[in-house]
Amino acid sequence: MSEVLVRCEAIAKSFGQGALTQRVIREATLALNAGELTLMMGPSGSGKSTFLAMLAGLMRPDQGRVEALGQDLWQLDDAAIDRFRLQHCGFVFQGFNLFAALTALENVVFPLQYGSLLGDEARRRAHAALEEVGLGERAHLRPVELSGGEKQRVAIARALVKQPELIFADEPTSALDSHNGSVVVDLLHRIARERGAMVLVVTHDPRLHQRADRLIELEDGQIKRDERIAQTEPALAGEQEHA
Ligand SMILES: Nc1ncnc2c1ncn2[C@@H]1O[C@H](COP(=O)(O)OP(=O)(O)O)[C@@H](O)[C@H]1O
Ligand SMILES: [Mg+2]
Repeated sequence: MSEVLVRCEAIAKSFGQGALTQRVIREATLALNAGELTLMMGPSGSGKSTFLAMLAGLMRPDQGRVEALGQDLWQLDDAAIDRFRLQHCGFVFQGFNLFAALTALENVVFPLQYGSLLGDEARRRAHAALEEVGLGERAHLRPVELSGGEKQRVAIARALVKQPELIFADEPTSALDSHNGSVVVDLLHRIARERGAMVLVVTHDPRLHQRADRLIELEDGQIKRDERIAQTEPALAGEQEHA
């Protein structure tokens, strides 16, 4: 049995007021495991980003609770939630969000400056993270010199460098072609397996179906489908349970 790292119970979120109230997420309950990449799918506007933000300590639910690494997340005060995110969560977004003036290495070092790691040790850690995403040789380049796929891999290295247990990716492949999109998701998948991290990827990209351990579909603010995916990779075939 896998360890649950994030659990939400009956969370809900609405926007707007009165007759214009839009119920985006309606009482959703879910548990996400260590070592797994879960893909949350649904059409644009179905509430995927809202869902992710509530699980990741970015947006407070109207009701329900989120337990992350055993903590009742939304009972913490704002400063403690910020600290929780800094220490335990890595984020990857559609637009990469890299600093154009900094090299790949400096972009990855950046989040470490809020922690206790400094100087050479921080650079060593950042370099190791870039190597993990296959960009060790390109650490000295600036974003403008990198392809879209490479930029997203730098963003993943930056998300990994603090060794977070929880990794949240919101549409990480939508600015990429299909090959680079697959590379990025396979990389996140490997990180989930190798580090035992919980990886949640929200996307409307149906090409990614087969690349996850689990597929969740949102519809009308609710979870309409939640199933395990049989892995096609031969190395995993033996240890995979079938849905
Ligand atoms: N901060 C906000 N204020 C008002 N409406 C919002 C806000 N965030 C999201 N919404 C609305 O909630 C719905 C779901 O949005 P979102 O979670 O971004 O969906 P998805 O990521 O699946 O495209 C959309 O109709 C969007 O317009
Ligand atoms: Mg979204």
